[in-house]
Amino acid sequence: MPDLARVVSEIAEEMRQRPDRGKVATYIPELAHVDPGAFGLVVIDNEGNVAAGGDADMPFSIQSISKVFTLTLALGKAGDRLWARVGREPSGSAFNSIVQLEHERGIPRNPFINAGAIAVTDLILSGHQPREALGEILRFMQFIADDSTITIDEGVAASEKRTGFRNIALANYMKSFGVLDNPVDYTLGVYFHHCAIAMTCRQLAMAGRFLAHHGRNPATGLPIVQPERARRINAIMLTCGHYDGSGEFAYRVGLPGKSGVGGGILAVAPGKASIAVWSPGLDESGNSHLGRIALEALTKRMGWSIFAA
Ligand code: DON
Repeated sequence: MPDLARVVSEIAEEMRQRPDRGKVATYIPELAHVDPGAFGLVVIDNEGNVAAGGDADMPFSIQSISKVFTLTLALGKAGDRLWARVGREPSGSAFNSIVQLEHERGIPRNPFINAGAIAVTDLILSGHQPREALGEILRFMQFIADDSTITIDEGVAASEKRTGFRNIALANYMKSFGVLDNPVDYTLGVYFHHCAIAMTCRQLAMAGRFLAHHGRNPATGLPIVQPERARRINAIMLTCGHYDGSGEFAYRVGLPGKSGVGGGILAVAPGKASIAVWSPGLDESGNSHLGRIALEALTKRMGWSIFAA
């Protein structure tokens, strides 16, 4: 078995030197200032060993990676009733696309495209004030990462609120079909804020451990979700976690993964490791360019693809 710590530091060094870094997202103005030269990688294995490389402790905006955790919370709250308001099929279109919503009567394809994540947030919000729902999401992140210092970057949330015209359109469109229960402003307020949670690769890899360990926190043995639920969340990450780049990610990396426009990716090697990578430059599908390349190198060298030894 190759030495994990050495593989991680070699990959971080290789990525630091690469000239092709993709393009930093600019549609959320606050994200445009991030240094495209940044790169971080953290792997936490089954035994709790942590291998870290590059900017492993620099916080970044987790953006759509938060959708994995809101999905987990919403399934905890509603169970299979969730699937009445959101599907679980790949969309084959961009993360902020509106085209399928009309054909499918306001029911988004899956919980990871923006429309689907807004519908999931709306379910978490029901019965609460926005501040309480947001507190529940943030506390859940802090709990599973075992780190109470994780916070929301209010500057990023405000920046997205000012410029989030597509999401406002998606939410209003779903509302017209009766898919959202709460006032659109409230649901979007919670959505923009959970996307603006700032975390380091180390914190994110900690938060993903339960998905790699049959739903349990491997350090304490405590269940976060049932094993079957962890398996299903992983399945949705594999098929939908990278939007229209999900096929390419499965082909090259071979792990369940979820990307965010902040340039982070959370990947899960079931039974083996939780992995967080961050490089802010994106490819044309809005997924981290070097993040994907680094994960491809990691799974190849460690033999971790779920499709083959
Ligand atoms: O709603 C948005 O557009 C952002 N808050 C999140 C999008 C995102 O991260 C897409 N992922 N690659």
